[in-house]
Amino acid sequence: MKKSHLEILDIYRERINNQLELHLSSNFIEESSKSDLGSIMKYSVLAGGKRFRPILTYTIASLFGIKLEKVDKSACAIELIHIYSLIHDDLPAMDDDDIRHNQPSSHKVFGEAQAILAGDALQALAFKVISSDELLDSDVKVSLLNLLAISSYEMADGQSIDLSIVSKDVDILLLNSMHKKKTGALINCAVNFGVLLNPNIRQEDSIILSNFASKIGLAYQVQDDVLDITTSVDILGKRQNSDAIKRKPSYPSILGLDESIKIYKKLYKEALEEISKLSVNEEQLKDLTKKLMQRSF
Ligand code: IPE
Ligand code: IPE
Ligand code: MG
Ligand code: MG
Ligand code: MG
Repeated sequence: MKKSHLEILDIYRERINNQLELHLSSNFIEESSKSDLGSIMKYSVLAGGKRFRPILTYTIASLFGIKLEKVDKSACAIELIHIYSLIHDDLPAMDDDDIRHNQPSSHKVFGEAQAILAGDALQALAFKVISSDELLDSDVKVSLLNLLAISSYEMADGQSIDLSIVSKDVDILLLNSMHKKKTGALINCAVNFGVLLNPNIRQEDSIILSNFASKIGLAYQVQDDVLDITTSVDILGKRQNSDAIKRKPSYPSILGLDESIKIYKKLYKEALEEISKLSVNEEQLKDLTKKLMQRSF
């Protein structure tokens, strides 16, 4: 029986969970680690999360008929960088948040030093996972690694801006460029991994997907800012009102809640219009985008 698009997204989620488990249990970690660093990394990676970025990479690569085996390492790497960014984001020196994915944040359990090191190690592991992939040509691997490096840098740059504007009056243009970096960069990376894995992609399709990435990258963080206000800890899996408590400028703090909701919905709709121009059947990517637009955590 043919699987529905939403069932396929569940298959991707299970697949990425298996991949993450596999790479965190690899000889590389077991043999090089005489400490508990491997289990500290696992604590955060295996706690869950929506796995939206790797699911996006699988979905886009699949639009072009790329085999899932060839996508596994890229999907894994993007999630490893994402989880590293969250561990560091929650540190007392950054957002000082004590709950992530419905469990105490890494530093609450293992202490700040170990949480910092777990983040560092996850970042390194992400690059290792792609560079040791035996299914991909070297030139494809180099382009994937290059994009991962640039995107991780941009994420850190966005986080740096985020922390430098605490308690300040900023305009929406600055907020946009910060959101595009701190969150948009890894989402753009997840989309463009799907593009780079398909060296024969038509240039028109890759431009459409880049436009799509930039719309959903901004939408995703505006929505995160909204959910921070509207959604309780038991649904979010992280503290409610974290932004207001830390005096973080956000879309709702500048434009209000209703206007912010309108803006992110409009961005998702524009993203949907964008992908309807693809030369391949985009239905599965549409379903994923609609699911994101309706997400409640
Ligand atoms: C949270 O991202 C941080 C942002 C960049 C908005 P997600 O909402 O995708 O994190 P998960 O699903 O909990 O891992
Ligand atoms: C985080 O933005 C972006 C990252 C690069 C991790 P937030 O600080 O708003 O993310 P949450 O709300 O803590 O998940
Ligand atoms: Mg933050
Ligand atoms: Mg945060
Ligand atoms: Mg947030």
